[in-house]
Amino acid sequence: MKTEDINSVVDRVLISEEEIRRKVAEVGARISRDYAGKEPLIVAVLSGSFIFASDLVRAITIPVGISFIYASSYGEGSESTGRVDIRTGKGGLDAEGRDVIIVEDIVDTGRTLSAVRDFLIEKGAKSVEICTFLDKPARRVVPVDVRYMCFDIPNEFVVGYGLDYAYKYRQLPFVGVLKPEVYEEN
Ligand code: PRP
Repeated sequence: MKTEDINSVVDRVLISEEEIRRKVAEVGARISRDYAGKEPLIVAVLSGSFIFASDLVRAITIPVGISFIYASSYGEGSESTGRVDIRTGKGGLDAEGRDVIIVEDIVDTGRTLSAVRDFLIEKGAKSVEICTFLDKPARRVVPVDVRYMCFDIPNEFVVGYGLDYAYKYRQLPFVGVLKPEVYEEN
């Protein structure tokens, strides 16, 4: 399916821009209340979380630190092997003694978040909580304790608001279900 317009790869909108805006504001307000008097460190897991993290931090009204890490699963195809490669930017990541909030776009099997959480605890974080935009509970393999979640969704192939298919469609401002012909032709 060759197309010039990214909107045409979407079968239907699962979560609209307006629903996202409202929910992100709500979660940002909750974090601001829960961490009042503290200065948590937001650790955004790239690449998928870049849009959610940037909207979320603008909905938080207390001071926060913001850091980024890359996490990717080893392995071919859509199923990961369970080994997660974690990389920090230049200068590393100083989580020592910090109240960390990990920000993710989606929890699927839970392997990435579980590994990122262990990594941050090993770095000396004082507390580690998880904030995810989407959750697919039906796909969970490794249990993870999610403190903040915007939407739980069925096990469908979704794109947009940071989520990609084959490194594309992250820029869609809503979450959409991908047309099957888009992935079936590959
Ligand atoms: C996606 C997503 C999460 C992870 C969730 O990342 O951003 O990090 O998968 O899956 P899990 O719960 O099964 O571990 P991906 O490796 O596709 O990289 P990306 O963020 O660059 O899209």
